[in-house]
Amino acid sequence: MTYVISMINLKGGVGKTTTTVALAEILAGDLGKRVLVIDLDPQTNATTMLLGEKAWATANAQGFTLATLFKDSLRPDGDPPKFNLKSTLHQGVSPVKAVKKLDLLPSSLDLIDVQDRLAAVPAGNYYTDRPVDLLHKATRKIVPDYDYVLIDCPPNLGIITLNGLRMSQGYVIPTKPDVLSTYGIPQIMTRVKGFAEGLADEEIVPLGTVINMYRTNTTVHDTTLRALRSDVKSGKVPPLFASKIPQGDAVAGAAEFAAASTLRQRWGYQGHFDQLKALAIEFDERAQAQL
Ligand SMILES: Nc1ncnc2c1ncn2[C@@H]1O[C@H](COP(=O)(O)OP(=O)(O)OP(=O)(O)O)[C@@H](O)[C@H]1O
Ligand SMILES: [Mg+2]
Repeated sequence: MTYVISMINLKGGVGKTTTTVALAEILAGDLGKRVLVIDLDPQTNATTMLLGEKAWATANAQGFTLATLFKDSLRPDGDPPKFNLKSTLHQGVSPVKAVKKLDLLPSSLDLIDVQDRLAAVPAGNYYTDRPVDLLHKATRKIVPDYDYVLIDCPPNLGIITLNGLRMSQGYVIPTKPDVLSTYGIPQIMTRVKGFAEGLADEEIVPLGTVINMYRTNTTVHDTTLRALRSDVKSGKVPPLFASKIPQGDAVAGAAEFAAASTLRQRWGYQGHFDQLKALAIEFDERAQAQL
């Protein structure tokens, strides 16, 4: 059974991509899972963290990114589709030697333009596919090959993010424990619930909230955490994961595509890797309980 999950937050820069890549590498490299990362963000951060800029540029020049999939849907005049799943799927990504079964569907900067045009596509039978179904339909054949599919979303709930949610059983909200980063979480829950209800029989479970860039003994962080816990109780915020990701240079440094032999080398010796691994184990337990 595959568990498909979207990483979302309306706020930018809170660690969606970092959490996605860390979880993916640890699940694949340490917990023996088969993992696919789908990068839906035009900023292409997850793509460059896992594939490196050089390989991405080559793939992008050939049109082997998800932008091609979405662009196909904007040509309703019977042109043959250009998206090729096999060429777009990069197998065995990550600069960490210990990570074997981690694959990637890369993003492209061209997605910015596509996002705007897709939003303007009229509903109706002229277009055979609904714009929110595109990713789901295109990846249906390969999803069962994985234990986990992690979808890194842009900081909005636009049509591209909805494509990710459409095929997800659950979602995770990474956030910084401060007022502005957590402000929109209840709204995300309401919006996703409404979206799932529109899909008829499908539920999209709020699997959890990940606290990232946590600093101990910081008044703002501790106050926000207390507020979050109370909002979890009243069902306005998805349950917090017990493992928090500490703020640290090692975690920021992992954004660089640099060869590493071990996960600890990539994610930090100062306890950062251990926290991330604890988070991955917790995530795995919660997800398995849903299957
Ligand atoms: N725990 C951490 N400690 C230090 N730096 C971090 C940590 N987590 C993330 N960062 C850094 O903070 C920045 C934002 O993180 P990231 O790109 O993961 O956020 P995001 O939510 O995906 O952003 P966006 O909304 O732009 O996609 C990056 O430079 C990243 O390397
Ligand atoms: Mg990101």
